[in-house]
Amino acid sequence: MSITQETARRRTFAIISHPDAGKTTLTEKLLLFGGAIQTAGAVKSNKIKKSATSDFMEIEKQRGISVATSVMTFEYNNLKINILDTPGHKDFAEDTYRTLTAVDSVILVIDCVKGVEEQTERLMEVCRMRDTPVIIFINKLDREGRNPFDLLDELEEKLNIRVRPLTWPVNMGSDFKGVYSLIEQKLYFFKANKTKVEDDVLPIKLEEAVLDEKVGERDAAQLREDVELIEGVYDQFDRDAYLSGKLAPVFFGSAVNNFGVKELLDGFCQYSPEPIARQTDKREVKPEEKQFSGFVFKIHANLDPRHRDRIAFLRICSGVFERGKFYHHTRLDKNVRFSSPFSFMADSKSVLEEGFPGDVVGLYDTGTFKIGDTLTEGEDLQFQGIPSFSPEIFKELINLDPMKSKQLDKGIEQLTDEGVAQLFTLQPGNRKVVGTVGDLQFDVIQYRLEHEYGAKCRWVPMNYSKATWVTSDDPKKLAEFVRLKGNQIGYDKDQNPVFLAESEWMLRMNQQNNPDIQFHQTSEFK
Ligand code: G4P
Repeated sequence: MSITQETARRRTFAIISHPDAGKTTLTEKLLLFGGAIQTAGAVKSNKIKKSATSDFMEIEKQRGISVATSVMTFEYNNLKINILDTPGHKDFAEDTYRTLTAVDSVILVIDCVKGVEEQTERLMEVCRMRDTPVIIFINKLDREGRNPFDLLDELEEKLNIRVRPLTWPVNMGSDFKGVYSLIEQKLYFFKANKTKVEDDVLPIKLEEAVLDEKVGERDAAQLREDVELIEGVYDQFDRDAYLSGKLAPVFFGSAVNNFGVKELLDGFCQYSPEPIARQTDKREVKPEEKQFSGFVFKIHANLDPRHRDRIAFLRICSGVFERGKFYHHTRLDKNVRFSSPFSFMADSKSVLEEGFPGDVVGLYDTGTFKIGDTLTEGEDLQFQGIPSFSPEIFKELINLDPMKSKQLDKGIEQLTDEGVAQLFTLQPGNRKVVGTVGDLQFDVIQYRLEHEYGAKCRWVPMNYSKATWVTSDDPKKLAEFVRLKGNQIGYDKDQNPVFLAESEWMLRMNQQNNPDIQFHQTSEFK
């Protein structure tokens, strides 16, 4: 098959949700359809239990699980589908944001009882930044959920996206009877824990009397009324609007009962985009280009603390990736090759001979990669869209063992390369400040510094709650600002100045008082 054909049959996406909405359950059901796993229960939840802050074994277990399930690949309807896993815990949200840079679309899971939750909004903001196409799955219809029209309104309002239902529920909770496919004009009858998916589907026009027989007069009337309203209120589903991230098709179902999942998967296969072109600092790279290119979106430390090698996850953007071939590492301007790159299956890894656009390759790394690094066949490119976000919690790293300062430096350098947290250096004195989006990372870092690098540290909380990257068209004005702000200025790993603010209010004050300085919420402002 040609690159174009191989590309056309790939779908690379992530499932996102507020914790507990059903992401893990849905992932598992999708893998079951693809035959990638044989039994339910094979996909372990990557959730960290609430007690985990003090339970390091739990954190270690989580790391093990999240490597194993980082990328799950299966074949379905002649498509090669790659699901990129995202951590459920909100303290690891930044990891999720990065993973979202490597997908071409997402499925968003909503709990029909709870509607749009806090994490849902944040994740969707990230999708909006890149106009990622979104399909919405409203889950747990076997529970007494909210009115579906209200849910749709809430989605539009809070997530800032238009929606279009493609299936519609007949009741919910104990009286849940099934979903009607507005596209296929078929009624799917609900049965808890279905094993076979083909049974109980009825092609049916709404006006047919048999509908009343099947679901009762009251529900039949309600369904007719609902569908009339839908057709009246919502435009026809427009795939282009979906592909440009403006419109989200909505499916209803119950993941744990494997209900509505096949319709979702079929809809996904039909509508979701194949690997898309990606922007670099120089030009747009199209997947069908002959020359290989790709970028690292995630780095994971190996689980064996005696080895410091890590796994870098590379998303292929164009051309063919081949085992053993030399590629150009554009940041370091050097050539690198990989003798045993691997691909991910649901529960195993296997050596990969060649990979195509959309695929994710695991590369053993001994410290050459940072998140966002680009590999090419020689062209000097850097893929865009892999920003660092402003952290929210800041603590100074204090070395507890002066004999181990080298280990500490190396450890914190490598852990922050992995994207666990962000490192800022304050002058004078090279003080190290670590910024994260959640408190849990500090425990993880402290634990890993000790167990992987033999370095002991403690944390001193700092009063900052916002980091913004600062630039100016006038270098003199920037230098002046940096000088004036003194210890409120840190430097990120690329030596870019970052302004640390105590509060949103302080940040706004500084913005007002310094009109020549630009303040950026993410590191990607070039
Ligand atoms: P997450 O990855 O988004 O955090 O959610 P996960 O799939 O772990 O699901 C969270 C809980 O919701 C699980 O229950 C799961 O069984 C349940 N669930 C998922 N889909 C449905 C559904 O369609 N209907 C209902 N009623 N429940 C659903 P749990 O009690 O936390 O775990 P478990 O003991 O059932 O595994």
